[in-house]
Amino acid sequence: MTGGPLVVLVGPMGSGKSTVGALLAERLGAPYRDTDADIVAAEGREISDIFVEDGEERFRALEKAAVAAAVAEHEGVLALGGGAVLDAGTRALLAGLPVAYLSMDVEEAVRRVGLGVARPLLAVNPRRQWRELMDARRHLYEEVARAVVATDARTPEEVAEAVLDALEL
Ligand code: S3P
Repeated sequence: MTGGPLVVLVGPMGSGKSTVGALLAERLGAPYRDTDADIVAAEGREISDIFVEDGEERFRALEKAAVAAAVAEHEGVLALGGGAVLDAGTRALLAGLPVAYLSMDVEEAVRRVGLGVARPLLAVNPRRQWRELMDARRHLYEEVARAVVATDARTPEEVAEAVLDALEL
């Protein structure tokens, strides 16, 4: 049993989890880990390929296992994929951990991620898909979060600072 993650970042694609996570890791002098990268490394293929070749359900099963392993092992900053909170078991696992939700409004999301073809969930009609995605997930991010940090008008440095403040780190 380890001390567990120092910070867990959740939030939608493009909310800055990786950029802010790397800054937080630097500030805390702790390693950074990202469950999407763990899955890509273990599978030897990109996430978009997993979606196309095996479907979303298979990806979610891989993601659930990757999050459980990372939460158990990682004593640093941990960023989760945007959809990790869809799983009730994962949400239960996050209870009591220092979780920060990087929030972002839909218009900002469309600006940042736009037509990102590498993001399989947004390939058709990004604005409508964003709205639906956030309507389905907002309450799940809020449920697991100890702190909610708005990212819209902030630089990644400012967001990192706000996360440290909000989690009292
Ligand atoms: C997803 C978010 C992505 C990745 C996959 C699915 C989602 O992660 O896990 O494309 O369902 O929101 P990022 O949030 O790191 O982009």
